[in-house]
Amino acid sequence: MTTDKTINADALKMTSFQVFSKLEGAVTSGMIHLGDRLGLYVALAQGDGDTSASLATKLSLHERWVREWLHNQVAARLVSCDDLSAEDPVFYLTPEAIAVFATPDHPAYGMGMFHRLPQTMNALNYMPESFRTGIGHDYDSHGPEGAVGIERSFEPWNQNFLVPVVLPVLGRAYEALKSGAKVADIGCGSGGAALLMGKTFPNSTFDGFDISQFALERAQERKKSEGASNVSFYDPRTHAISQDNSYDIICTFDCIHDMTRPTEMMKTIRGALKDDGTWLLVDIKAHDSLELNVSKNPMASLLYGISVLSCMSSAMSEPDGEGLGTLGLSAQKAESMARNAGFTSFERLDIDHSVNSFYAVRP
Ligand SMILES: C[S@@+](CC[C@H](N)C(=O)[O-])C[C@H]1O[C@@H](n2cnc3c(N)ncnc32)[C@H](O)[C@@H]1O
Repeated sequence: MTTDKTINADALKMTSFQVFSKLEGAVTSGMIHLGDRLGLYVALAQGDGDTSASLATKLSLHERWVREWLHNQVAARLVSCDDLSAEDPVFYLTPEAIAVFATPDHPAYGMGMFHRLPQTMNALNYMPESFRTGIGHDYDSHGPEGAVGIERSFEPWNQNFLVPVVLPVLGRAYEALKSGAKVADIGCGSGGAALLMGKTFPNSTFDGFDISQFALERAQERKKSEGASNVSFYDPRTHAISQDNSYDIICTFDCIHDMTRPTEMMKTIRGALKDDGTWLLVDIKAHDSLELNVSKNPMASLLYGISVLSCMSSAMSEPDGEGLGTLGLSAQKAESMARNAGFTSFERLDIDHSVNSFYAVRP
């Protein structure tokens, strides 16, 4: 820290650049949301290059608006164009951009977080009050589209990795899934993982628990349309997670850090799990300190920001919420909390993922 308050002209330019590059990212994120919502990326992906007019015609949109959107996208280097000086430039998506913007079953597909951008940013309107009172807002504060956004964020991962990569490393628990296990997915959101596991392992039964009414409504709709008779969904506040050590496997996918009472939840998981059962804990890859998170995670500012607007807000949505937040559950913290809750075995699973860490936790 310097005590000299003199402004250095070059440092001032750099500071302004840093600040406005964040605004550029925020506004372009809004444009990505629009591109996804209006089907612009999918239409571009399906063609062999489009002018603003041909793209607008495909989607029955107004050409002038589509042209300005394309100009934002090409300036941000998201959409490509080989000749910007042409009178009527032709725009296209590279194969990599098609994967990220327009291929929902590709592991790199990224539109889920942009789906719920308006709802996430709307939290700015009530955040000042939360900063004063300390009380945040649960996932339902993001409305029904918030639940859809979460569902779209997790679906590519579920589809590509959960069954072929993650579950097989669980050993005994994986064998139990095939022969017939009682499984809970706590913090199940719209039920994508539970429904997928239900379809893959018909001999097992799956109970999904979530406190989001919007997510539970989606989950029930999906269960009905898929005819999934071995999958059920509950709100644990009205249908408590049974404390009779009856579950073979309990999964928590990216939700412990969102809970107001993760310590209590871990004890509940222990009380629900058989003595030879397995808790598959998946949570955001976090380090033990601010210093390590900032120096080792290039996405740290994004994750701390999402924490304020969504994860930590959820984890503070009741008085005395523990407020772990997005980067609040490092391996060391998770292990110490799990041991305090009565678990004796905490194994980090060898699964490579850009955002998440995976643990098999056992009594
Ligand atoms: C980031 S989302 C993850 C959703 C889900 N696991 C998926 O794969 O789509 C976190 C979820 O945790 C849920 N949640 C928060 N606190 C909870 C609690 N105490 N019990 C059950 N679910 C909770 C939220 O409602 C939200 O749906």
